[in-house]
Amino acid sequence: MTGKSEGLERAVEAISVADLIVVATGAGMSKESGIPTFRDAQEGLWAKYDPQQLATRQGFREDPARVWGWYNYRRGLIARTEPHAGHGSVARLETLVRELVVVTQNIDGFHQQAGSTDVLELHGNINRFKCLDHDHPIELDVPIADCDGPLSPPGCPFCGSPVRPDVVWYGEMLPPGVLERAERLARSCDVMLVVGTSGMVQPAAGLPLVARSSGATVVEVNTDPSHLTTQVDVFLQGRAGIVLPQIVAGVERRKASA
Ligand code: APR
Repeated sequence: MTGKSEGLERAVEAISVADLIVVATGAGMSKESGIPTFRDAQEGLWAKYDPQQLATRQGFREDPARVWGWYNYRRGLIARTEPHAGHGSVARLETLVRELVVVTQNIDGFHQQAGSTDVLELHGNINRFKCLDHDHPIELDVPIADCDGPLSPPGCPFCGSPVRPDVVWYGEMLPPGVLERAERLARSCDVMLVVGTSGMVQPAAGLPLVARSSGATVVEVNTDPSHLTTQVDVFLQGRAGIVLPQIVAGVERRKASA
C-alpha cells in the first residue's frame, strides 16, 4: 500500500508505458451511477425473495412472471441513470493507450454507452434477450413495462419458450469463450485496473491474481479495502467517478510532456 498521491503516480506511470491494459469492473462501478447492486435492489416487494428465486433457471421455470418482473424492474432502475465520469474516463483511456479491454461483471451496458469499444461482459447484458429452452437470440425490442411487480414474459418467436434476459444466473456457466478470453487477457496484460469489486465472486475475482502472477501491475480503485486489496500493487481508495478521471488526467499530462 502506498500514499494516495504516490499510488496515483505509480498507477499513471504503469499505465502510460503499458501495451495492453485490462479494466476489470464490478458493481461498485455501476453503484457510482446510482444503480443499486443486486442485493441493494431487493427492496419493497422484492425483499421477500431469495436471490435463488430471482436469478436461477429453476426460479424462472417455477415462476416466469416473478423473474421477468424482477428484471423489468431492474431495467427500469438502470434506464433512469446514466454512465458516470468514471465510465467516460475508461473510454477516454482507450484512446490514449495501444490496447485496452474492459472486462466487466456488470450487466447494464454502461461501458459501451460511455464509448468503450472492446467490452467483455462476463455476466451478460440485462438489455439483451434469449429464449429459455434453446437460447434463440431475441432481436425484437423489449420495452420496459411501467410496472414494479410480476410480469409475464413474451414467448420466443422461434420456439415459443419464455424469453429471458441474456445474463448469467446463479449456477450457470459463463458464455462460452468469454472466460477463456478474460483469462488470456489477464495473463498477457501489462496493467490490470480493478474497479469497484469486492473480489468475492468467482471466476471474476481470480482474474487480478492471474494478472499479478503473470507480471502485470494491478491497481485497485475502491471506496473500501476488498478481498483483493492485500494482493494488489497499488490501492487507490476512493470513488470510481473521482479516481478514474484523476488517473486519466495524469496519463494525459504525461503524454503531453513526453
Ligand atoms: N467506487 C468504487 N468502488 C465502489 C463504489 C464506488 N462508487 N461503491 C461501491 N464500491 C465497491 C464496494 O466497496 C465493493 O467492494 O464496489 C464493490 C461492490 O462489491 P459487490 O457488491 O460484491 O459487487 P461485485 O464485486 O461486482 O460482485 C457482485 O454479484 O450480482 C453479481 O454479477 C454480480 O458478479 C457480481 C457479484
